[in-house]
Amino acid sequence: MPLYGDGGNVRDWIHVDDHCRGIQFVLEQGTAGRGVSHQRATRELTNLELTRAILDHCGAGWDMVTPVRDRKGHDRRYSLDDSALRALGYAPRIPFTDGLAATVRWYADHRPWWEPLKRISPGAQGKPLRPAAGRARPVSQWLVTGARGMLGRDLVAVLEARGEAVTGLSRSDLDITDAGAVRDALARWQPAVVVNCGGLDRGGRR
Ligand SMILES: NC(=O)c1ccc[n+]([C@@H]2O[C@H](COP(=O)([O-])OP(=O)(O)OC[C@H]3O[C@@H](n4cnc5c(N)ncnc54)[C@H](OP(=O)(O)O)[C@@H]3O)[C@@H](O)[C@H]2O)c1
Repeated sequence: MPLYGDGGNVRDWIHVDDHCRGIQFVLEQGTAGRGVSHQRATRELTNLELTRAILDHCGAGWDMVTPVRDRKGHDRRYSLDDSALRALGYAPRIPFTDGLAATVRWYADHRPWWEPLKRISPGAQGKPLRPAAGRARPVSQWLVTGARGMLGRDLVAVLEARGEAVTGLSRSDLDITDAGAVRDALARWQPAVVVNCGGLDRGGRR
């Protein structure tokens, strides 16, 4: 179980069913143009606290934890104001402990769903990301930027395993802050879908 840096990053943990209920609620009850509808569960935990809770639910010990180097510019804490959504009548229902127990149970009961995904990722790491030069377009259905990062690598691997035509560009292939280069990349690959997995870390900001 990888644990970033000192484990002090704080997140607010909401059960996926509550999250999806919130999205459905906004679709049905929200008004366009009224701004952003944030959701939160008011259950903030550090990664260290969450890791302990998951290990407890799994009956596993701290020896399962592998510390990994923190991401550059990793957000220490997100703090969202969900008052607009609550004022409309939405509130999450599932208590954290019940939700975590149900989540751990779901993963234990659905190994065939997630185990193949875990096997895919490592293979992608040494793979050349650049597509062959001079190919006729359209070359790629999917264009993934920031493709050498953690999320980008996994996404490229999963798409390739599904047989999708995917081009993954690392920062040295395409700097997403360079508007001209982004325009050129779009013109060159003409992707149907672009997914940016690049995280800007200049000055500690993302
Ligand atoms: N991992 C998570 O659980 C998680 C959760 C929520 C949100 N996110 C967000 O998702 C994004 C990606 O996360 P990650 O875990 O994959 O991070 P990561 O492993 O640090 O990867 C980020 C990638 O972005 C690239 N990058 C930085 N500046 C760029 C630029 N100007 N143009 C193109 N690429 C650039 C980096 O390239 P170099 O390798 O060349 O520096 C790096 O490969 C981040 O914004 C992160 O905050 C991640």
